[in-house]
Amino acid sequence: MSILSYTHPYVREIRAYQPGKPIEETARELGLRPEDIVKLASNENPLGASPRAVEAMQRALLHSNLYPDGSAYELRMKLAKKFGVKFEQTAVGSGSSEMIELLCHTCLGEGKELIAAKYSFTMYPLMCKLFGARYVEVENKADWSHDLQGMLHAITPKTRIVFITNPTNPVGTMVGQEELDAFMGAVPEHVIVAFDEAYIDFAKEKPDTLKYVKRGQNAVVMRTFSKAYGLAGVRAGFVMTTEEIAGLLHKVRSPFNMSSPAQAAALAALDDEEHVRRSVQLVHEGMKQYENAFRAWGVDYIPSSGNFILVNVGEGSRVFRECLRRGVIIRPMDGYGLTQYVRITVGTKEENERCLAALKEALAR
Ligand SMILES: Cc1ncc(COP(=O)(O)O)c(C=O)c1O
Repeated sequence: MSILSYTHPYVREIRAYQPGKPIEETARELGLRPEDIVKLASNENPLGASPRAVEAMQRALLHSNLYPDGSAYELRMKLAKKFGVKFEQTAVGSGSSEMIELLCHTCLGEGKELIAAKYSFTMYPLMCKLFGARYVEVENKADWSHDLQGMLHAITPKTRIVFITNPTNPVGTMVGQEELDAFMGAVPEHVIVAFDEAYIDFAKEKPDTLKYVKRGQNAVVMRTFSKAYGLAGVRAGFVMTTEEIAGLLHKVRSPFNMSSPAQAAALAALDDEEHVRRSVQLVHEGMKQYENAFRAWGVDYIPSSGNFILVNVGEGSRVFRECLRRGVIIRPMDGYGLTQYVRITVGTKEENERCLAALKEALAR
């Protein structure tokens, strides 16, 4: 009998997370040089890593023989000071992905439910499978934003977590302060509200969700160093929440869940506001490039507050393949049932030009 029959049935059923197509794999398949390929598929930062973070990592590498500080004291102190919360209200880890997993670990299980918007991060349903919980998906509104009223109505005594992804991936829409306040005023106490704010730095208006944490509500604000800070490869993310919830996260995390180079990089990146400012500006300018082109072509797109844009190209997979042949990796959206769409990460001006040229040719076919 296969070993699989002795393994966890929840785990057997999981379809592993599908990341954007890697550059090296594409280069091998197409016989191209990796440097000739443009990857606009994983919402990474085209400006690169914060130079200060790179230097800090290089210094930290010299001490790689030692275990990292498991409590991430310096980084968490800095976060606490920056965001006006207590040290005990913070937790850090290998990207916000790990923070999502840790939170799910604290309260999901058989008979429990997690609520999220239909068009939000694919890790949430995956986590439900992993922990044997039920995933409750709420349709987005006609303007593609989260239907917070619908999400409120979906709450049952079994609900443990509601994810509000702001801005949401893959559509890029946001919910504003008023709607969030109304939701937080009505959400029952047995539910943890997780604000996944991976893309918040790119948003022109940033609702205050930390105030719910500061008021002692069961809220978790999740952030990442992967996007505006340019450290996706380093794996660094953090949360601010109540002392009670943070305490649980520390119980379920592994003892050294953030490497010393990652802690050093995150610490240095927090001081590199100039890099964040330039990264955000680059995205805003690039977004205009796409919007102008799509408007000129008469192609529908969804206005986005993130560093990516969802565009209706008619046949998403075909256009994805056509762009790939031209060395441009974008993301088909079939996994979400959005077969007409592709998602494009905003890159540098030149990368965007190459992507638009590839798209134009693909659309003309
Ligand atoms: C909405 C959202 N949340 C969280 C993440 C995870 O980011 P990371 O684990 O790199 O911090 C992503 C990644 O793309 C995302 O789109």
